[in-house]
Amino acid sequence: MPGIAAPRGTRDLLPAAVPAWEWLHDVHARVTGSFGYQLVDTPIFEHAELIERGVGTGTDVVDKETYTFTDRGGRLITLRPEGTAGVLRAVLTANLVQEIRPVRVRYAGPMFRYDRPQAGRFRQFAQVGVECIGERSPHLDAEVMEMGWRFIAALGVSGVALQVNSLGDLDDRQRYRAALIAYYEPLQDQLCDDCRVRLHVNPLRLLDCKRDQRFVAAAPVITDSLSPESRAYFDTVLDDLRAAAIPFEPNPRLVRGLDYYMHTSFEFWHESLKGAQNALGGGGRYDGLAEVLGYPATPGIGYAMGTERLLIAASDAGSAPGAEPACDAVVAAVEPPQAQAAAAAARTLRAAGVRAVLDVSDRKIDRKLRFADRLGARVCVLIGPDEVAEQGATVRDMGNRQQQRVPLTRLAAAVAEALANQEVTPA
Ligand code: HAM
Repeated sequence: MPGIAAPRGTRDLLPAAVPAWEWLHDVHARVTGSFGYQLVDTPIFEHAELIERGVGTGTDVVDKETYTFTDRGGRLITLRPEGTAGVLRAVLTANLVQEIRPVRVRYAGPMFRYDRPQAGRFRQFAQVGVECIGERSPHLDAEVMEMGWRFIAALGVSGVALQVNSLGDLDDRQRYRAALIAYYEPLQDQLCDDCRVRLHVNPLRLLDCKRDQRFVAAAPVITDSLSPESRAYFDTVLDDLRAAAIPFEPNPRLVRGLDYYMHTSFEFWHESLKGAQNALGGGGRYDGLAEVLGYPATPGIGYAMGTERLLIAASDAGSAPGAEPACDAVVAAVEPPQAQAAAAAARTLRAAGVRAVLDVSDRKIDRKLRFADRLGARVCVLIGPDEVAEQGATVRDMGNRQQQRVPLTRLAAAVAEALANQEVTPA
């Protein structure tokens, strides 16, 4: 019987990839922390209603991509496809905006979308993101984009194009909806089945339909439907970006795949990611979302970035750290009767801060040395019958293959010296 495989669209994070994964999270914490953003963590499942109302029916994410099920208590539950709705719910139920406005939070974790898996697109993927909740100011829109930009730069990734658009407020959107319907109605017969339905439900979605892209070039642009106030708001955002020396490209066709956006919306595109997967991340302002979820009106803006996509770009750029050795030293019992003495020696080393792996296998000594090599150990400590009799240990430098017998009282110091001798001096 073949082994049971992982579900399609999922990936395992294996030890060799962990240093890059942790590095990315550290960099995100450092960069967003320098702007005063603090970690928040919310459940990976929510009431289906939160996602449906938040992300919006009529979007691909809700209509086709959610993992929704009834739990044993009869509740309709959805695995979160994104973090914004849940983070906003958490901040508002805890009344955090009562004390501090805006609340600045960051998050990281798995998201779930029943997408068609391909390079850079998975059914379980991870995001790092931020939300700035409780204040409406164009300066915050610029802050969030600047932070995203600086984060990507701190990962050593270049070749990123920040695409920025304004979706205006609800009135602007109504005007734009009407303009889109007027444009698409005569084309109805040529639209795909989904878009014919969407045309009167959610016409903005027609702009990101993969099948009907040929009509997009001539479609009306949102910028023409913006009121003078919305235009001025957007101009301030762009001015702030210029003042912060963040390069950007205005893109009036950028509509984003989620329904809650108004005013500023943006994406970070990267050249190495092709086609529909070219977005490293995206975000925008969602001032109407809190009310849609049944809370008092509360403005907010944020971004989320795809962790796997960022890591693809960082490893292409050569900036992501590679695999790390599991330990500094292997402590090997030469024969089974020395197992306890070897365990005691390993304990002594760990207490001195050395990462020590115990080898109590019945392999021959040369195999034990090869095992230590494979683990990346720089030192191997051998404990045989003579060492036990003498209350000592043999310390072998795996680099120059020299070894010396030392008393146990000097073991930690001798290992530390051998490790220090091999410290690679950074170029
Ligand atoms: P989003 O554009 O749906 O926005 O997702 C953000 C990023 O998550 C994408 O740019 C992409 O890098 C990654 N991503 C999305 N789907 C997949 C997938 N199937 N496989 C791999 N990576 C994927 C949001 O999720 C919003 N919550 C962002 C936001 C925060 N808006 C305001 N605040």
